[in-house]
Amino acid sequence: MKVLVLHGVNLDMLGKRDPGQYGTVTLAQIDDAIKALGSELGVDVETFQSNVEGHLCERIHRAHGDADAVVINAGAWTHYSYAVRDALAILRVPIVEVHLSNIHAREAFRHDSVIAAVAKGQIAGFGLDSYLLGVRAAVSAAQAAEASAEH
Ligand code: DQA
Repeated sequence: MKVLVLHGVNLDMLGKRDPGQYGTVTLAQIDDAIKALGSELGVDVETFQSNVEGHLCERIHRAHGDADAVVINAGAWTHYSYAVRDALAILRVPIVEVHLSNIHAREAFRHDSVIAAVAKGQIAGFGLDSYLLGVRAAVSAAQAAEASAEH
């Protein structure tokens, strides 16, 4: 089983970016924790970050037929990128939307996610744990999808 974890725009600046909101954890530390969890669960995990919307869409396209589940923190694209949403909608695997911060408790423009409707669910507000919970949810949703495809 393979889980693809995607990070969108500005998430490469974690550690330096708005520590009051996002803490001091870096993207490298997040990726290390995700990979450690992948080993613990016995699943392959690949991570990818881009600040270029089209590159993220192309990575999502390549996930078609390759990944069994996707975890995505699209950063600010969450709130307005129909391109990222449409790319995700092409996939036939469970998608889990994650956010470090609780987007619903922040500025009004962050309350809406254009990705939420194509995701199985959303986990927000738990910092690094949002990703780890997201990977666990993605693995269990992919296992359930596999089991129902067998019947
Ligand atoms: C974020 C929340 C978004 O509103 C913001 O633009 C980000 C990070 C989060 O993880 O809390 O870049 O997705």
